[in-house]
Amino acid sequence: MTSPPDTAPQGLIRDSGLAGLAAAAEVGVQGASAAAWLIPISGLVLVLFLVVHLAGVSLALLDPTTFEQVAEVLHRQPWLPPLELALAAALLLHPLLALLRSASNRQARGAVAGPQRSRRDGGLEAAAALAGRWAPWSGALLLVFLVVHLAQLRLHRPAAGAELEALLAALASPFSLGLYGLAGAAVGLHLLQGYESAHRSLGWLEPGNRERIRWAGRALALLLGAGFSVLPIALVLRASLAAGMP
Ligand code: HEM
Repeated sequence: MTSPPDTAPQGLIRDSGLAGLAAAAEVGVQGASAAAWLIPISGLVLVLFLVVHLAGVSLALLDPTTFEQVAEVLHRQPWLPPLELALAAALLLHPLLALLRSASNRQARGAVAGPQRSRRDGGLEAAAALAGRWAPWSGALLLVFLVVHLAQLRLHRPAAGAELEALLAALASPFSLGLYGLAGAAVGLHLLQGYESAHRSLGWLEPGNRERIRWAGRALALLLGAGFSVLPIALVLRASLAAGMP
């Protein structure tokens, strides 16, 4: 079977059944370019959510009364369900498209290509390169965590005034506490590389702002990673100290 010339006339493509192939290739190209901006945009939307989420759940430790009041007011807002739908879309799209892209990149590189070499070197750069290689694993861990987390706290929304009680019940088992700690570490690891990478994919990274974006990503990784890892332990410790008090 002879392969068609690269410059086959349009009529030939239309009439020979190659039109389907050409259309499929076109859809593939369009899909790839949609993924190229949907992956970083959905990732940045999730980062924004996580900053707000950490600020909100920190109140459970710093000011439990305000935490309950904020939760109660939030749950009465008419804009909450559409916002949750948008969040769910970002949570589904981001890993799904990233997985599809990494599978098609692997296919394009072929089996003979060795592992990709990092352009980064030394110290934090090496850690960021490692975080990039582990991104599928930290992402998968976050997905597992989210299934457990949402089943615990979102599927059956606690009654008004009982948010902290539900949170402590969710953290009660060592397995659950360990999973929250790991999820915090996974958020930090994912962001160590992902924040800068998202800016690069969107074409927002320039020589003039590269260092600023890199350090902002590291600061966010540290803040969110440490915050989400330490907060559950601090909540459980405080509750057990309070329970031990006469
Ligand atoms: C310290 C760790 C965390 C604590 C204490 C915590 C606490 C909570 C609580 C109390 C809720 C219920 C909010 C409500 O009733 O409106 C919630 C919801 C949620 N959490 Fe977390 N969370 C933590 C970490 C995370 C992480 C790391 C993620 C993402 C990777 C995440 C994603 C979500 C999502 C998507 C919801 C549902 C939001 C909604 O639909 O309103 N959480 N979390």
